[in-house]
Amino acid sequence: MATINDEYVIGHTTSELLRIDQQAKLLEPATRAIMQVAGLRPGMRVLDVGTGLGDAALTAAELVGPDGQVVGVDRDAEALSQARERARARGLDNVRFEQGEAGEWDTGGQFDAVVGRLVLVFCKDPARVVRHHAASLRPGGLYLAMEWDYLTARADPFCPTVYRTVALMAAAVRHAGMDPALGARLDGVLDEAGITETEALGFRPFTTTKDGAKALTGLVSTMLPLMEHSGLVDSPDFGLETLRHRIAAEVAEANATFVLPTLVGAWGRTAR
Ligand SMILES: C[S@@+](CC[C@H](N)C(=O)[O-])C[C@H]1O[C@@H](n2cnc3c(N)ncnc32)[C@H](O)[C@@H]1O
Repeated sequence: MATINDEYVIGHTTSELLRIDQQAKLLEPATRAIMQVAGLRPGMRVLDVGTGLGDAALTAAELVGPDGQVVGVDRDAEALSQARERARARGLDNVRFEQGEAGEWDTGGQFDAVVGRLVLVFCKDPARVVRHHAASLRPGGLYLAMEWDYLTARADPFCPTVYRTVALMAAAVRHAGMDPALGARLDGVLDEAGITETEALGFRPFTTTKDGAKALTGLVSTMLPLMEHSGLVDSPDFGLETLRHRIAAEVAEANATFVLPTLVGAWGRTAR
């Protein structure tokens, strides 16, 4: 059985659900593009692992259309009830959400595609989780994983506070046993899990100073417990409260573009 970290290290607080919501809006175009290039088509039956508020599932539901079906699975009941509400609000009745552990949930059926966005990073052994879910695919089915390569985030021209913040976050994530650049080696994870014909492609939103600072500092707030635990920062000295303003001011002064991390999609097929 695939093992995943027992504790979802970034938690499920209301503010975290709000942050996931804001992040999902930034990621929607990249997610849709990756799903289309990877081969999500009308009529497919799709499983979304670690669905959260259901954003990737809802995009998939639009792509597979009324003749297709999507099932989103997550361990968090509150996130799932919001996901159901969003599906209703968007008039999508080809998607349903079920509570379950990502590495254990047994589909009891066959899917044409499995997708999972920003969830393998929380798995102790991502390849085992991919292998577990690949078993739910029909022969020649599509497996699509999407993960960040955090290390590509930057402001251009160079802004030292942005650089330092990204580096600290990456170090804290690593200290917690996760890979901040998992996206960069995602096709290797799929290969290791026995997925064939793998391909990978990265997309990244380029955004305004205000939105970029908001996204980065939102992520820092989420990561703060990890950062404190790692001993890399002491939060009062780190000055989270002022970080947003410092980053925004620095980026504005340099007239810099804020370049968010790359969302990498890696996909391939099970044996035919
Ligand atoms: C960063 S969020 C991503 C949510 C969604 N896939 C997206 O891209 O918007 C990670 C999600 O994975 C879920 N998750 C993490 N570990 C899990 C596990 N072991 N079983 C089920 N869900 C899990 C969390 O509850 C959370 O909703």
